Formats: sequence, structure tokens, C-alpha cells
Amino acid sequence: MTERLTIALPKGRVLRAVAPLFALAGADADVLLADDRSLVREMAASHLRFLLLKPDDVPTYVEYGAADLGVCGRDVLMERSCDVYQPIDLGIGRCRMVVAGVTGKPAPTGVPRVATKYPRSATAHFARRGVQAEVVYVQGSVELAPLVGLADLIVDIVETGETLHQNGLEEREEIARISSVLIANRAAFKLRQERIRPLVDALRKAVNERLM
Ligand code: PRP
Repeated sequence: MTERLTIALPKGRVLRAVAPLFALAGADADVLLADDRSLVREMAASHLRFLLLKPDDVPTYVEYGAADLGVCGRDVLMERSCDVYQPIDLGIGRCRMVVAGVTGKPAPTGVPRVATKYPRSATAHFARRGVQAEVVYVQGSVELAPLVGLADLIVDIVETGETLHQNGLEEREEIARISSVLIANRAAFKLRQERIRPLVDALRKAVNERLM
């Protein structure tokens, strides 16, 4: 009997990009992208089950074995220590993590205050540069912080640069290039290798075909 695999995917933008890759690996993209509220998408024919999660929760489900595989951004993995395999860079969800500030406004002379959804990555970045910084955690709309005096700088994700531009901000430094990666539960990757390997190989092939 074929064992069922459980795969954790982030809802939203990345799901739309990742669905065609999983379709090439045997999943039903229509089921994945169906516009309903169900958080579990079963595909009996291919023995696959998908869980639709908040992006930040994907590594948790995979690390604890509630899902065998998952897809998440490198930004999420950078921000937390999480013990999972990363067998493939899927080459989707490409963006960059950057430091940005108000256009034309010089850096403050004292300790800059930095607003971010990524406190750990921001703290590590400024420590590497030998710059003392006060990091303030916010959950979203980070670009607002320097406009109203909450912070001097932000650390955030930039994709097109449009959000920075429309809010009068400019990029100062690049911290990391981000893309979505396939992650795997360590035990499942070893013990269920016969089931997982063909799916990983099919995904790798789909990624390479897209890049050609
Ligand atoms: C992300 C990010 C930026 C924006 C960048 O926010 O935090 O705000 O996208 O995209 P752009 O460079 O193409 O303009 P998201 O849409 O995830 O919402 P959030 O700000 O509420 O986190």
C-alpha cells in the first residue's frame, strides 16, 4: 500500500507559485488552489495531503513531524533555529532582505532604532557590522515606522521595491537574497526515503525545467 505524504504549504502568494511545481510532481493544482476555506487538501489518487498554513508556521509542522515536507522562505528559516533538511531551493518567491531608511535622510549619529518583523536577522546583521542598534519588533506595515518616528531604519523584505518607493524610503544595504526552499522532517527523510525521494526528484526536475 502506498504511504500518504503530508506537505505543509504557505497560504497566499507562494502557494500560487508553488502549485504548478507540485502539479508537475503529481499533485492536483486545482485542488491546491481551490478558493475555499479548507486547510487540509487531500489527493487520494496521488496519496498526498497538503496543509495550508501561515508561512511562519510551516517549519514548526515539519520539524515536529506533523508534515513530512514543507515549503518556506529562507527569511523564515533565518529568523528561527529549526532542525529540518533543506533538499531543494525551489527558485520561487524570490526577494531580498534589506536595510532601508527615509530617502535622503542621513543615518542618526547615535544608536539607530530599527523596526522589523525579523528581529533576530536584524540583530545578527548589525552585530556582524559592529554597529550597535536598538531593534524594535513590529508585525507588518514596517515601512510606516520611519515615517512617524518609531524608528530610524527598517529591516524588511523587498520584492519589486514599490512599497519602499511609495513610502519615500530607500534601500541602504542588502542583508540576504531570499527564495522558497523545500524543507523535510529529518526522521521522515530517512525512514520514508522510498516514498519521499521520487517526489523530491520530480520537484527538482520541475524546478530545473522552469529555469531552462
Ligand atoms: C512584504 C514586505 C514589504 C512588501 C515588499 O509585505 O514586508 O512590505 O511585501 O514588496 P514590494 O517590494 O514588491 O513592494 P507583505 O505584503 O507580506 O505585508 P506586510 O507588510 O503586512 O508584512
